Amino acid sequence: MKIKKINIEYEEYAEDEKLLSSDLKLISEATTALDGSYAPYSEFHVGSALLLSNGQIVRGSNQENAAYPSGLCAERVALFHASSNYPDVAVNAIAITGKSDHFITTDPITPCGSCRQVIAETEKRQGNKIRIIMRGEKGVTRIVEGINSLLPMVFHEEKLKKTK
Ligand code: THU
Repeated sequence: MKIKKINIEYEEYAEDEKLLSSDLKLISEATTALDGSYAPYSEFHVGSALLLSNGQIVRGSNQENAAYPSGLCAERVALFHASSNYPDVAVNAIAITGKSDHFITTDPITPCGSCRQVIAETEKRQGNKIRIIMRGEKGVTRIVEGINSLLPMVFHEEKLKKTK
């Protein structure tokens, strides 16, 4: 038996002034996306914004439903919209933010496990990494360069095939 370790790397910014202007712009788009959130059940609103390789921005927000599992997270709303409407355009970056009806979010909003899996498949399809920018209403911004930092040992389509 061997114990093995995985190191993950992320950038953390305490001040907006230190962020790249393109990251700050995408955070602002994700904040705007919050306006479209439909979250009467959790009362927790999530906004996401994608920067596509052609410069286009695609926004998404969480969409809930009285039959809870029928709802969808902000990240997947944006990613599936992009894939449906611009199937040949790569996603270069995603910004995620969130706010509650009851408290101020001070930790960066991170994508849930299912959204990580969809980000992973988007990267695989397009052949390049996605910059993931995570942020609350207040507090630090965390950035990872690619889903591997958030989803090590990912399940990819090769796993569906027989290996010797
Ligand atoms: N949510 C997202 O939109 N993205 C995430 O990555 C985490 C969770 C939404 C789903 C649900 O509408 C609400 O936040 C509470 O879980």
